[in-house]
Amino acid sequence: MYSLLKPFIFKLDPEMAHDFAIKSLKYNFLPEDIFKVENEEILKTEIFGTKIKNPIGLAAGFDKSAEVYNSLFRFGFGFIEVGTVTPKEQFGNPKPRVFRLENDHALINRLGFNNDGLERVSKRLRKSSPTGFLGVNIGPNKDSENRIDDYLKCIKEISNFANYITINISSPNTPGLRDFHNQNTLKDLLRTITEFTKKNSIQTPLTLKVSPDIAEGEIGYIIEFMKKFKISGVIISNTTDKNRESLSGLHKNEVGGLSGEPLKNLSNKLIKKFYKEIKGEITIIGVGGVSSGLSAYEKLKSGASLLQLYTSMVYEGPGIVKKIKAELISILVKEKIKNVREIIGTGS
Ligand SMILES: Cc1cc2nc3c(=O)[nH]c(=O)nc-3n(C[C@H](O)[C@H](O)[C@H](O)COP(=O)(O)O)c2cc1C
Repeated sequence: MYSLLKPFIFKLDPEMAHDFAIKSLKYNFLPEDIFKVENEEILKTEIFGTKIKNPIGLAAGFDKSAEVYNSLFRFGFGFIEVGTVTPKEQFGNPKPRVFRLENDHALINRLGFNNDGLERVSKRLRKSSPTGFLGVNIGPNKDSENRIDDYLKCIKEISNFANYITINISSPNTPGLRDFHNQNTLKDLLRTITEFTKKNSIQTPLTLKVSPDIAEGEIGYIIEFMKKFKISGVIISNTTDKNRESLSGLHKNEVGGLSGEPLKNLSNKLIKKFYKEIKGEITIIGVGGVSSGLSAYEKLKSGASLLQLYTSMVYEGPGIVKKIKAELISILVKEKIKNVREIIGTGS
C-alpha cells in the first residue's frame, strides 16, 4: 500500500509528510495482523531484563512528542524510543530543515529538538499506557543556562513512565551539545546524573546515545565512565555531520545530521570497537542504515544486541519492520541458528 502512496507522499515537503503520518497514526487504523511474520519466536530477546518479541526498535526522532507510540507498536517493533524531549517546548530551527537524498537512501535533518516539552509529553504518557517496551530520549533546551539540570528535570519526571531513558548528547543540531563527549564534561554529567538517581531512588535503566563522529581515542573513557556510573546501554549512533563525499543527492551539503544508508558502515565500525572493549557489561543498541534483514544481521554480528531504525521507514513505509524481520529470520534459519542472540558480536 505504501508503494502506491509513496509518489504522492514524496511530492510533499519531508516534514509535512511526517506531520501527516503522525496525524494519520492518531487514528490507529491499520490492523495489527497484516504486520505479523511467521517464526518470530527465533527473534525473541531481552532488553534490560525484560523479554521482547524481537530486537527491532524505532529510533528517537520519529515520535518526538510521544503522540502515537501505541499505533507504532502495531507495526511489529520490539521496542520504541520517543523523544528527544526537552524540559520546555521548543520550535527548533527555521524550516525547511529535513531533506531527502533519494538516490543515497538517506536524509539530512537539522530539526533542532522540536518537541512539545516535558509537561505535555508526560501527560500523554500518563494518559495512554505504552503497550510495549518504551524508551524516552531526553535532551536540554537550546537556550538553557544549565544543561545538566535539564537532563535531571527530564529524568525525574520521565522515570515515572519510561522503561528506559536515553541521555542524548549527540544531536548535531543543538550547538555545543556534542561537547558532552569531552572527557571532563562527560564525567561531570554522568556523575551528577548517578548521584541524582541514587538520591531520588530512581532505578530506570539509562542509556547514552553517542555520535558516530567521535575520535578513536574517546571510546576508552566513554566506556570507563558508562561502567563507573552504571549506564545500562549505549546507542550507537546518532546522525553524522560528516561523510558527504560519496553522496549524489542535490541536498548533500545541507547543514545537519545525515542518516540512512551512508551511516551504516560508520556506525557498524563504531559498534565493533565498542563491543570489543565493553565485554558484555553494557547493552549495545545499533542504529544507522538498518533497512533489510542483511543490514540487521550485520549490525547484530558487529556487537549490537538490539537495533533501531528511522530513515528506512521513511523510504519503505511501516511494512519495513515486517520485511526486516522476515529476511532476518530466513538468514538465521539458513544458518541453523536457534535464537537471534547467538549471533551477537560473532563478526566483530
Ligand atoms: C528526521 C530525523 C529526526 C531525528 N531526531 C532525533 C532526535 O530527536 N533524537 C535523537 O536522539 N535522534 C534523532 N534522530 C536520529 C535517529 O534516531 C537515528 O539515530 C539516526 O537517524 C540513524 O538511524 P537511521 O539511519 O535508521 O535513520 C533523528 C533522525 C531523523 C532522520
